[in-house]
Amino acid sequence: MRHFLDIHTTPADELRGIIGAARAMKGARDGQPKAVPDAERPLAGRMVALIFEKPSTRTRISFDVGVRQMGGETMVLSGAEMQLGHGETVADTARVISRYVDLIMIRTFEETTLAEMAEHATVPVINGLTNRSHPCQIMADVMTYEEHRGSIAGSKVVWSGDGNNTCTSWLHAAGRFGFDLTFTGPETLDPDAEAVAFAREAGRRVEIDRNPHRAVAGADCIVTDTWVSMHDPVSARERRHNLLRSYQVDARLMAAAKPGALFMHCLPAHRGEEVTSEVMDGPASVVFDEAENRLHAQKAILRWCLEV
Ligand code: CP
Ligand code: NVA
Repeated sequence: MRHFLDIHTTPADELRGIIGAARAMKGARDGQPKAVPDAERPLAGRMVALIFEKPSTRTRISFDVGVRQMGGETMVLSGAEMQLGHGETVADTARVISRYVDLIMIRTFEETTLAEMAEHATVPVINGLTNRSHPCQIMADVMTYEEHRGSIAGSKVVWSGDGNNTCTSWLHAAGRFGFDLTFTGPETLDPDAEAVAFAREAGRRVEIDRNPHRAVAGADCIVTDTWVSMHDPVSARERRHNLLRSYQVDARLMAAAKPGALFMHCLPAHRGEEVTSEVMDGPASVVFDEAENRLHAQKAILRWCLEV
C-alpha cells in the first residue's frame, strides 16, 4: 500500500512522477471553472476522509476540491469532534475508518500519530502536516519553483527564520530533488538534525549561517514561514519575535540574493513579521502560485496513493 508520509521516505523517481502528473493535470484543466470535474474521473466511487487536529485553510480546501474534481467524495472531520479526541486510540481509529473510506488524509501534532495511523490503516494515509514535516506543501513548492525557473536541481534555496516542520520538508526535498539549502536563523531554532543529515548524505550542500545577508548571496529562492507554528506554545511568541526579528525577509534581503530570485512562503503569512508586504506583493513573490499548486500536487499524490 502506498502511503504518502514524507518526502524522504518516498523514492525520488516516484516524487518526480507525482510532479509530472500534477503539471499535466493542471495543464489539462487550463481555464476550466473550478467546479467542473476533470475529463478523467479517477476517484469516481471513492471516499476520502480529511481529518484535522489543527486549523487549516489551504490543505482543507485544496484536498476537498481536488478529490471532487477527480470524481470522488470527501468528509472533512475535526479530530476534536471524533472519539480520537476523547480517548479512542489512533490504532483503533485507523482500523475503523479504513472500513468506511478509501484514503485518509490527516493533519495532526505528533509524528507518532501519523505513523500509527499508517501502520494500522488498511487504506493509504497522507500526511497533511505534523509538528515535524509538511510534505504536500513542499511538493507544491517544488512544482511552483520549476514552473517559474525550470529544474530546481543544482539551485540554492535559503530558508530564513525558524527551522520548523516546513523547513524539514524543504531539507528532505533538497536530498530528493538535488538542490542545496542554506539555513539562516538563530541557533536555538536550528533545523531538524536528521533532515540536515539526510540532505547531506544525499550529496547536497547544507549550510548554516547566522548572518542572513551573507546567507542569501547567490540564492535562487528565499523561503520563510511563520515565526510561531501551530504546535508552538503561545508563550513562545515574544521570545521568538526577539530572536527572529533580524531574519525578516524584506526588500533589502531580497536584493542581496541572486537577481531574479523567487520569494516563497507556504502561508498563512504574518505580514510585517517574517516577511514585509512589499516582498509578499512584489515581483519575486510566487506565494499564491504555491497555494494554487497545493491543489494540483495533491491531486497527483492522491492518484499515486490509490494507483489510479
Ligand atoms: N500552507 C498550509 O498548509 O496552509 P493551511 O494551514 O491553511 O492548510
Ligand atoms: N509551520 C507552520 C505551517 C503552517 C502551514 C505551522 O506548523 O503552523
